[in-house]
Amino acid sequence: MVPPGFSSRPATVDDADAIYQLVAAAEIEWHGRAEAVPDQVVADLRRPELRLEQDTLLVHAPDGELAGWAWVHLGKRAQIEVHPSYHGLGIGTALLDWAEQRSGEAGSEWLAQAVDDQDKAGTVLLRSRGYDVLATNWLLERPLDPTVLRDLPEWLTLTPYNETQARAVHELIEDAFSGIRSRRKSYDEWARLTVERSSFRPNASTLAYAGDELVGVVIALDLPDTNEGYVEQLAVRADHRNKGIARAMLDDTCAEFHRLGRRTCILWTHSGTGALGMYEHLGMSVRRSTTVYRTTI
Ligand SMILES: CC(C)(COP(=O)(O)OP(=O)(O)OC[C@H]1O[C@@H](n2cnc3c(N)ncnc32)[C@H](O)[C@@H]1OP(=O)(O)O)[C@@H](O)C(=O)NCCC(=O)NCCS
Repeated sequence: MVPPGFSSRPATVDDADAIYQLVAAAEIEWHGRAEAVPDQVVADLRRPELRLEQDTLLVHAPDGELAGWAWVHLGKRAQIEVHPSYHGLGIGTALLDWAEQRSGEAGSEWLAQAVDDQDKAGTVLLRSRGYDVLATNWLLERPLDPTVLRDLPEWLTLTPYNETQARAVHELIEDAFSGIRSRRKSYDEWARLTVERSSFRPNASTLAYAGDELVGVVIALDLPDTNEGYVEQLAVRADHRNKGIARAMLDDTCAEFHRLGRRTCILWTHSGTGALGMYEHLGMSVRRSTTVYRTTI
């Protein structure tokens, strides 16, 4: 169903850089700059449950340039992007048809995907097919000044990430998000998306201890060639919330980003977490957003 002269095939991990270039081109078109983390695509393509042959599709233009791509994870979550040079040719519709078909083959009853709020064509396409609005993701930013760190209470200690704690960090994060997300990630899946990535910054990541118990985590990534630091995950153990641990960890990570020469800290948050108000209270503001749409299959 691709335009004449175009071709389609599944992705391999070797396509990651071309896919990243496509994602970045779309972001530059909509926002004037690329904010995707370059190794995100590699991390996604290496998810343990993803079967590249069935779950990914690339569309190439006649000259070999990547014109569009899509993937469907566990039949439930899709990502579809078309290079700005190839808008209006029906490639997005073809990829959406494929994604819905793949979701059905995988036995899923629904399919969700996030669409950039500046992606007017993608938004119109999903709305015309009767997709419902499920949630919002916000990209938040905080300017980094030399952070004046508050004194910590005596019972709280902060340290940089330590790999001997990897399993405990994974458990804490999956527990913290358990009421919010539909499924737990295995250690392997979580690690590939976080601490095993080349962009992972252990020194800017923060662990919080109450006595000798791990009670909070910030996972930080590096955004090469930018002056921004990126928080991939932030979580506090449920029985230690509302004691200032998130504030203390975020300040600590921001102070390290500043030492590394970064000028802004950015992170994504999902409306389902209810954390937007907290981040705004902590000096962050919305830079842009995406809308999560869902349909039944
Ligand atoms: C969100 C979460 C990290 C907050 O951790 P926490 O340690 O309870 O937060 P803190 O106690 O440090 O709160 C920081 C400040 O924000 C304020 N705050 C908290 N929730 C708020 C809200 N909804 N609106 C406004 N302010 C809020 C607190 O009052 C506190 O203010 P203060 O320092 O001026 O007193 C924690 O609830 C959690 O782990 N949730 C599950 C995972 C998650 O949602 N992570 C973030 C999504 S990306």
